[in-house]
Amino acid sequence: MKPAVLSALLLLSCGGPVEWRELPAARLGPSEARRSGEARRAAVLLGERLLERLSEEIAARGLAAAVDVCRTAAPAIAAEVGAELGLKLGRTSERLRNPANRPPDFAAKAIAEAARVGGPPRVFVAGDGRMGVTLPIRLKAMCTACHGAAEAIDPAVRERLAALYPDDRATGYAEGDLRGFFWVELPPED
Ligand code: HEC
Repeated sequence: MKPAVLSALLLLSCGGPVEWRELPAARLGPSEARRSGEARRAAVLLGERLLERLSEEIAARGLAAAVDVCRTAAPAIAAEVGAELGLKLGRTSERLRNPANRPPDFAAKAIAEAARVGGPPRVFVAGDGRMGVTLPIRLKAMCTACHGAAEAIDPAVRERLAALYPDDRATGYAEGDLRGFFWVELPPED
């Protein structure tokens, strides 16, 4: 086989660049609407479990200790929900606290355009049949303890955040602000 053909095949089979395009909400077919609903339920479940865990930790051990829980529990809960539902999901933002939360390609588009269009739920499809959905995460009052104005954050929390996240960009938010997005990626349908 010619090397050019071989590398083209490898690119196809090993996930070379995949084109994502947006499906406008008004034009979703029945199966697309059902799948985007699944994605939305997955994101809601992740949000609920995180909030429950975070509230428990704050009540039991206080805010500064809850910072560490956020760090380990958030990815663990996302992995757990993803495994239960057979999809991938996570949280991301334009202003990240943890650089490991950078967005997948389709969500990067929602982030890049957030300043212009805000955070409406958006649906994307890839050439290989995957579906990507982004949903807004808005700040609740309780979140300001760790994402509010830096000078208003409890010094012990601030210290813990500075130690774990030297490049933290996720402060300075107020209640109701668009803090970031849940992203959900569904595999191609059989
Ligand atoms: C106890 C402190 C604390 C509270 C309260 C808190 N967060 Fe966070 N948040 C963190 C930490 C720590 C991370 C980084 C987690 C990681 O390492 O993945 C984070 C990460 C995030 C991210 C992922 C993107 C990024 O910047 O890395 C989002 C989105 C987010 N928080 C939203 C919220 C929302 C919404 C609330 C309120 C419901 C909230 N947080 C409450 C500490 C907190």
